[in-house]
Amino acid sequence: MGVLSMKGGDGEHSYANNSEGQKSVASNAKPVVVENVKEMIVKMDFPSCIKVADLGCSSGENTLVVMSEIVNTIIATYQQKSKNPPEIVCCLNDLPDNDFNTTFKLIPAFHKKLKMNVKEKCFISGVPGSFYSRLFPMQGVVKESEMESFNLPFYNPDESEVRKVIENEGSFEINNFKTIFGLLFSYKTGLTEVKDDDLDRFEVIKKRTNIIRSITEPMLAAHFGDTVMDRLFDKYTYNLAQRYDTLRNIPTVQFFVSLTRK
Ligand SMILES: C[S@@+](CC[C@H](N)C(=O)[O-])C[C@H]1O[C@@H](n2cnc3c(N)ncnc32)[C@H](O)[C@@H]1O
Repeated sequence: MGVLSMKGGDGEHSYANNSEGQKSVASNAKPVVVENVKEMIVKMDFPSCIKVADLGCSSGENTLVVMSEIVNTIIATYQQKSKNPPEIVCCLNDLPDNDFNTTFKLIPAFHKKLKMNVKEKCFISGVPGSFYSRLFPMQGVVKESEMESFNLPFYNPDESEVRKVIENEGSFEINNFKTIFGLLFSYKTGLTEVKDDDLDRFEVIKKRTNIIRSITEPMLAAHFGDTVMDRLFDKYTYNLAQRYDTLRNIPTVQFFVSLTRK
């Protein structure tokens, strides 16, 4: 038996039967965990898949009590906003000598603790290994090799470069050259401009994702496949939300150019 692993089984001296103290610590931490889970879901704009990991889960019911509280909080948060619950992946990690079997036998009881029947949506797995090493497969949405073979040359010229291209080409006279400045999270609907102060921040971020998705999805889906598009853009929304305070002040530039043939 590994010296760091807790005593397995469910006998008199087992960890499973002698860990009420740890259970009560977890119970004291519950309000903070619940608050953080709710905040994270909103920040990530209700993602379609959530992974929860217990690093050092040991054996016995403690890990599943905590997991069931997290899963119930996730479900309740989605229900409050009338959203379909996401797929929830619960990863129970401990050292390879840990007695995972004792925990796995309690999984039917864990399912009973859940607020609704989410068996089809909630997946539990054991992850043996040290949490100082890499425990999980590449969590990326697309394969590395697919990433490497995708090339989207994209260049934003400034006004002088656009002028130069037109002049060098030589067929047109520039009548009017207007530079229109905007902000990343402001956009025009018909004749009115919607600014990010007018809307809830998550609506603004979601709108930005939809704008980018409407332009890039056909190209991305052709290379990476349709099935990863929702997850890819969930991730994009999340990354935008993380950088929102910086990105919202970055100006965008568009050119309006009127030309006459020489
Ligand atoms: C005191 S137990 C906590 C168990 C459980 N979280 C609870 O609240 O009842 C600590 C657990 O961490 C595990 N552990 C220690 N070092 C670890 C490592 N490097 N990687 C994964 N698990 C580790 C031990 O095997 C042990 O089961």
